[in-house]
Amino acid sequence: MSVVSLVCLSHMGRLLRFAWGMQIYLGMPRSGSIKGLTNNQLEEIGCQIILGNTYHLALHPGAELIDDIGGLHKFMNWKRALLTDSGGFQMVSLLQLADITEEGVTFQSPADGKPMLLTPEESIRIQNKIGADIIMALDDVVKTTITGPRIEEAMYRTLRWIDRCIAAHKRPEVQNLFGIVQGGLDPTLSYAIGGLAGGEDKDSFWRVVAQCTAALPEDKPRYVMGVGYPLDIVVCSALGADMYDSVYPTRTARFGTALVPEGVLKLTHMAMASDVRPIDSTCICMVCKNYTRAYIHCLVTKNAMGSQLLSYHNLSYMMRLSQDLHTSIIVGRFPEFVQGFLRAQFPKGD
Ligand code: GUN
Ligand code: ZN
Repeated sequence: MSVVSLVCLSHMGRLLRFAWGMQIYLGMPRSGSIKGLTNNQLEEIGCQIILGNTYHLALHPGAELIDDIGGLHKFMNWKRALLTDSGGFQMVSLLQLADITEEGVTFQSPADGKPMLLTPEESIRIQNKIGADIIMALDDVVKTTITGPRIEEAMYRTLRWIDRCIAAHKRPEVQNLFGIVQGGLDPTLSYAIGGLAGGEDKDSFWRVVAQCTAALPEDKPRYVMGVGYPLDIVVCSALGADMYDSVYPTRTARFGTALVPEGVLKLTHMAMASDVRPIDSTCICMVCKNYTRAYIHCLVTKNAMGSQLLSYHNLSYMMRLSQDLHTSIIVGRFPEFVQGFLRAQFPKGD
């Protein structure tokens, strides 16, 4: 069990080749599960796609084993769509010692400390074995907070690596390969939809998303990786983005926080101890139908069931947000949707 991320997809209705429709929520960890939720529960809340990480899956249980068993769908008994991230980002963000050269990313194996090299070809080879419906190109990830020539290097290297990924891809008819744009926050370089959500301010982040969506083809999904908070998803969708993934809904659940239309509700707060209302009276999820704030307060942070119930609600909230967002686009009422969302989150207009 481990990292869960969740993706939602907003404008997807216009993308006919995505037959599953609209919202993508990706979540997954090292060993092939979303923390705290069963596959049935994910289906129940309308989850269409989940995300796995090449790096984690290659370490455990290993790409060869997954391939032998018939691919990740079969291994984890997940019948809907899967996406795997390429591994470079996880290595750079998780391992201090990752070293990036033109060849690939070298890191110390967490198993035996030996140096290991992940090249674009190796990332695609592993992702071909895992067998997700969407696979990501290996990118040269730099923190958005750095400046200087390293950003330009990452942008051009990511482009060179995309060519190597395309050449190495053995199953293009069944696995869609997504390219990643890097380039930090430099307006002369950047179309980066990767490399964001790394501590930059919102103005820079939103400016770069706007710049990317203006430059990237409108008939292809535009995926803002690692994003995000409900507000970011609404703003990025207004700027033309379609897909997102984030560990936030399940991670914050484990800290006792629920996502609600007004923002967040801290179930750890003493005021919750005797509050017999549901987390969110407008939510139709199984948790809000069956449990009180008082009960979840009693469990949360002490008992795994508390985090599970909160994760279920938070993922249901994100699914509903992306479904409502998507529907509002389809019926031509997106501005009203955004107004309603913002009014609930910022009632004082601040
Ligand atoms: N997840 C969040 N940000 C990134 C990124 O820049 N690259 C990749 N590959 N995955 C990400
Ligand atoms: Zn709920």
